[in-house]
Amino acid sequence: MTLHNSPAPPPATAWGPPPAPPSADRWSDLIQHDRVHRTLYTDSTVFDEEMVKIFGGQSWVYLAHESQLPGPNAFVSIRMGLRPVIVTRDRRGGLHAIFNRCAHRAATVCREESGTAKSFQCPYHGWTFRNTGELVGAPWPQGYGELDKERFGLTVVPRVESYRGFIFGTMNADAPPVDEWLGHARTWLDYWIDRSPTSEVVVKSAAFRMGYRGNWKLAFDNAGDGYHPSFSHRSLLEMASRMGDAKDMSYFGRTPDDGPMKVYSLGNGHSVIDQRPVYEGPGSFWANQRPQPGRERFEEQVRAEHGDAADTLLDLAIGAQINLSIFPNLLIIGNQIQVVEPLAVDKTQLTWHATSIGGVPDMINTMRMRSQEDFPAFGEPDDQANFEEAQRGLAAPEAEWVFMNRGLDAPDWQSVEHDGVIRTAVTDEIHMRGYYEEWQHRMRGANR
Ligand code: FES
Ligand SMILES: [Fe+2]
Repeated sequence: MTLHNSPAPPPATAWGPPPAPPSADRWSDLIQHDRVHRTLYTDSTVFDEEMVKIFGGQSWVYLAHESQLPGPNAFVSIRMGLRPVIVTRDRRGGLHAIFNRCAHRAATVCREESGTAKSFQCPYHGWTFRNTGELVGAPWPQGYGELDKERFGLTVVPRVESYRGFIFGTMNADAPPVDEWLGHARTWLDYWIDRSPTSEVVVKSAAFRMGYRGNWKLAFDNAGDGYHPSFSHRSLLEMASRMGDAKDMSYFGRTPDDGPMKVYSLGNGHSVIDQRPVYEGPGSFWANQRPQPGRERFEEQVRAEHGDAADTLLDLAIGAQINLSIFPNLLIIGNQIQVVEPLAVDKTQLTWHATSIGGVPDMINTMRMRSQEDFPAFGEPDDQANFEEAQRGLAAPEAEWVFMNRGLDAPDWQSVEHDGVIRTAVTDEIHMRGYYEEWQHRMRGANR
C-alpha cells in the first residue's frame, strides 16, 4: 500500500471540507465518517488483505444454504474469498467445510459444482480424502516410508454453523456463535424464512451468475441504497408506471426521503431496506407486482381454488419486500439469495439463487420462479452497469474520495430504537457507514 502516509491533506473540493489530518492508523486515514478512499476499491494489496481478513480471519462468511446439501454425503463447491471450498455433509448429516486444495501439491480435489461423495480423489496423483478432510490414503505409500496421514489432511474451516439453513463458516475458532454475530439481522432473516408456512426454504439447483468488472464492495454499497432506483432503474419504473401508478418499485420515484420505506442499520455491518410499509394488507404484494406473462389467468385459478387464502398465497408468489445485507457476502433480495464473490480487486461474480418454499401449492412456487426472473433480468443489469462505471471513475487518482454522507447531517432522519438499531430514510447512506465500520474492525483483526 503506497497511499496516504503523506502528512499533507488533500485540498478542499467542491464536495465538502478537507479530510481530517492523517492519523497513525492506516484505515482511519482511508475511511472517514463521511467518505472512503478510492484505493479501497482499486488497490490490489487491499484486496489481498480483504481476502484473508474479511473473507477469513475473524469474520463469519456465508457459505451455502442447507437445502443445497439435501442428504448424507452431499457436497457443494463454493468460494470463501479466494479459497476454493467444498461444503459437505458427512454420513450422519453433519456439516463441514474443507479446502478444495490437495494436501499434496495443491490441485483441487473436486471439480464438480455439487453432488454426493463420501470421499474425493485428487485427479493429479490420486490421493484420497474423506468428505470431512482426513487423508484416506496415497497411491504406493511405500514411497513415503511411513505416511503420516494425520499430517496430510485437507485444511478445514474450523467453525461451520447453520442459522435456520443458512450455513456460515469462519477461520476463527473462537468466533462468537453465528446467531450472536447475526444479531439484529436475525429478526429479518426470520421474517424471510417464516414467510414459508412451514419455514422451509429450498434453494433451487441452478444459479444465475453474473460477472462485472468492478470491486466486490460496489455491490455491497448498492444493496442497501434506496437512493439510486429512481434514476438507475428508470426504464423499469416507467414500464411499471405504464401499468398503473402503484406498481412495484415505482414508489422509489416519489419523494422516498419522507416516505414510509426505511433503512435500518443493524450492527455488525448488516443492514436492511424495508419496503413493506408501502403495502397495505393481504394481496397488496401481488397487486403491485409488475406485469408477468400469464398473471391474470394464474390469479383467477388461485382465487377459484383457494378462496379466502388466495391473497396470502398470491403474496407468497412475490418477493419478500426486504433487501437484507449480511456482511460481507450475503444479500437477500426479494425471494432470492445473492452471493457476492470477489475474484480480483476489479472483478466480481454475483450469484443469484432462486428459492421455493414449503407449505404452498406447486402453482405458487411456479409463479414464484417467474417473479424471480424479473429483477435479475430487468433491474440487475442497471446496477452492474453502475458498478462497472464506478470502477472506471475510480481509476482517476486525483479525485480521491467516495462519499457516503447522505443522511449524516439531515435533521430528524435517524432514530435509534430501544435495541440500538438505527432507523432512517431509505436514501440514507447509513448502510455504507455501518459496514465500513465492521470492515475496519475486521481489517484490524478484531475478534467479536
Ligand atoms: S496434487 Fe493431489 S495428489 Fe498430487
Ligand atoms: Fe438497483
